[in-house]
Amino acid sequence: LWKMQTFVEQTVAGVREKVGDKRVICGLSGGVDSSVCAALLVKAIGQQVACIYVDNGLMREGETEIVRHTFRDWFKADLHVVDAKEQFLSALEGVTEPQEKRKIIGRVFIDVFKHEAKSIPGAKFLAQGTLYPDVIESGGSADGPAATIKLHHNVGGLPKELGFDLIEPLRDLFKDEVRKLGLELGLPEDVIWRHPFPGPGLAVRCLGDVTEEKLSTLRKADTIFLKELKDAGWYRKTSQAFAVLLPVQSVGVMGDGRTYEKAIALRAVQTDDFMTADWSRLPDDLLAKVATEIINRVKGINRVVYDISSKPPATIEWE
Ligand code: XMP
Repeated sequence: LWKMQTFVEQTVAGVREKVGDKRVICGLSGGVDSSVCAALLVKAIGQQVACIYVDNGLMREGETEIVRHTFRDWFKADLHVVDAKEQFLSALEGVTEPQEKRKIIGRVFIDVFKHEAKSIPGAKFLAQGTLYPDVIESGGSADGPAATIKLHHNVGGLPKELGFDLIEPLRDLFKDEVRKLGLELGLPEDVIWRHPFPGPGLAVRCLGDVTEEKLSTLRKADTIFLKELKDAGWYRKTSQAFAVLLPVQSVGVMGDGRTYEKAIALRAVQTDDFMTADWSRLPDDLLAKVATEIINRVKGINRVVYDISSKPPATIEWE
């Protein structure tokens, strides 16, 4: 514990010295790394840091509220929540190809972020929650080739052209250390133990074209799955778990009638590094409860399947 306190003291002093009286922009995604980075900066320089959170309309249920509550209400940070749902959804209209979706989302994100950043006078620095594994994976810099695959849609991958000097206070830390640091800084457990979430968000879990209606269906199913996992004590035993909305319809029966509706796939994996992964052996009873809840409560879904593929050859995400 004393080591973490020393780290905090030294980093806080370092940040203060580096930024002087200039302002710092910190991109917040709602994930662990950017949240810890932001919390550390708020501790170091208070209102001199402006946190930007882009609501792309592709977030999970309640995500924006947690960010607002944690940073605005609790840490009293200068938080800019940018509502860009319309922009993202209209840019994605009719697009079905996964990499194309990623490109569009990455591009719109940079546009929106840049626009918001311009509204913050005196900003000279950009803070990113780059961790040690991100640094080595990308060959020593956070924008090497590996980073372009994994990070470039995350807030960690904003381009140099924004013209800011980078601050990366978590560069020497591993994930478990970042979690400890986050707890030390007073971040809620909910944020600390959050599963990783891809930059393109629910857009790559809504197979095929993305519409508001499909996102809403997917979000409801995902919320039920995550709640049941947490209630059963399985959330922290899985590395990543989520629902996927499949673009197929299948036949079902309800009462005397026949239904022809969409299917949800559940995905839960265990992994150390996300390069390989095994599917989680969730208890049958838990899966049964999730399936029943989803089918009973989510309109438009009449079937739930569980993904039992490992990575490789399958990937964790479906797109
Ligand atoms: P796959 O599906 O390739 O995913 O097995 C490995 C890990 O990376 C996440 N992922 C992404 N993260 N932007 C991100 O920031 C992306 O485009 C992206 N695609 C996948 C995925 O959630 C998993 O943790």
